[in-house]
Amino acid sequence: RARVAVLISGRGSNMAALLYASRLPDCPYEVVLVASNDPDAAGLALAKAERVPTFALSHKGMGRAEFDALIDAQLRAAGADYVALAGYMRLLSPEFIDKWGGRIVNIHPSLLPRYKGLDTHTRALEAGDRTVGCSVHEVTAELDDGPVLDQIEVAVLPGDTAETLAARVLIAEHQLYPRALANFVTRDRTPEAKLGRVREIATQLPGAE
Ligand code: GAR
Repeated sequence: RARVAVLISGRGSNMAALLYASRLPDCPYEVVLVASNDPDAAGLALAKAERVPTFALSHKGMGRAEFDALIDAQLRAAGADYVALAGYMRLLSPEFIDKWGGRIVNIHPSLLPRYKGLDTHTRALEAGDRTVGCSVHEVTAELDDGPVLDQIEVAVLPGDTAETLAARVLIAEHQLYPRALANFVTRDRTPEAKLGRVREIATQLPGAE
């Protein structure tokens, strides 16, 4: 199974969704580490109770590249193949993204490309959107900008506030993330996917039609 490290900064409910899904039969990934930039993150206690190895270190007073190098060392020590950001509220350094490029995913509480950044539900309500949702995307150097892998739409109800919307979108997030991660780690592993990639590369070779 693919070895996934989950990075969190807080509650960790998406981390829990990923972890519990990994206990279902046929799940193609396992969670080998939960790491946090906030030693008080509630999700750390949950991971510990579930006997998942954890690493916690406050980023305060440390440069971004320096901090990310320490996280990188922990991921390598845990033998991680992939990184899943789950409410990790910190930008990653370009050095880190260079090392892990193509193997990092994130969940974001909006229908990207709409509402990158913070306060997504408030902004959607202010814009009068009738549908909101969540997205899982590949992480690149730009904030909330990599290719979208999957999304779930959620209807806005009369009387919704940013809080009620966040709670309902979170239910969708917990459905979306385990499946999107499973698809992401298996995309190059099935014979069909491999054949598709070979065909794709072949069409780009000089002399191809
Ligand atoms: C989730 O709603 C996640 O989509 C959001 O933070 C929450 C974390 O909750 N992430 C972002 O806003 C990233 N820009 P959790 O800690 O319970 O998973």
